[in-house]
Amino acid sequence: MSIDAIRENYDHPPFTEADAHDDPIEQFRLWFEQARQGNGRTPNAMTLATSSKAGIPSARTVLLKGFDKNGFVFFTNYQSNKARDLDENPTAALVFYWDTLARTVRITGPVIKVSREETDAYFKTRPRDSQLGAWASDQSTVIDNREVLHRQFDQVKEKYADQHIPTPPNWGGYRVTPTTIEFWQGQTSRLHDRLRYTRTGDGQPWTRQRLAP
Ligand SMILES: Cc1cc2nc3c(=O)[nH]c(=O)nc-3n(C[C@H](O)[C@H](O)[C@H](O)COP(=O)(O)O)c2cc1C
Repeated sequence: MSIDAIRENYDHPPFTEADAHDDPIEQFRLWFEQARQGNGRTPNAMTLATSSKAGIPSARTVLLKGFDKNGFVFFTNYQSNKARDLDENPTAALVFYWDTLARTVRITGPVIKVSREETDAYFKTRPRDSQLGAWASDQSTVIDNREVLHRQFDQVKEKYADQHIPTPPNWGGYRVTPTTIEFWQGQTSRLHDRLRYTRTGDGQPWTRQRLAP
């Protein structure tokens, strides 16, 4: 089948104002739980878009590691390309796509680093090899070959043998505090449902609008 023939008619229940929670975080919780039950192994995979001070955009996949009324949290290297963008321009967009549910959620808002305590608490829960991996990789830097990674991994493995592995100083979390959250539900005839919640800032009330698909 040629690529342009790939086409789906979304045969899913609609998403109407009557179904929608007044609080978009609670609405996200509902959709996330449904995605968790029905959308493969990584319902928490999301596209994170950032841009540099010069306005050059950049997007990549990261994993959502928690969310609540304060925002959406992911963890990464504080010297990576995305971190450099966020230093220069601390705002981001997140996109979830849940294929089997024909749903997408789009979030935008300012970004802050999470506290060191929050990062440490999460780092402790990671498998030991992932903890070592965080130490071994200078994310987004150019390296000569794969051996470089193995060498660095083995070095930290030896250094911390039988010991607690601390959080690398250049590794931690970010929190996207949403100012817009849009819920998109695929429908038949391309007449999809789009409900967008907007607020002017943290703690401000949410308003909701329907958008044309
Ligand atoms: C499913 C999936 C999950 C990922 N999760 C993360 C993550 O949580 N944190 C992270 O730093 N990179 C994650 N990555 C790798 C990023 O996509 C990216 O390669 C890396 O963060 C470097 O991006 P940057 O150079 O734009 O900073 C993930 C990749 C995939 C495919």
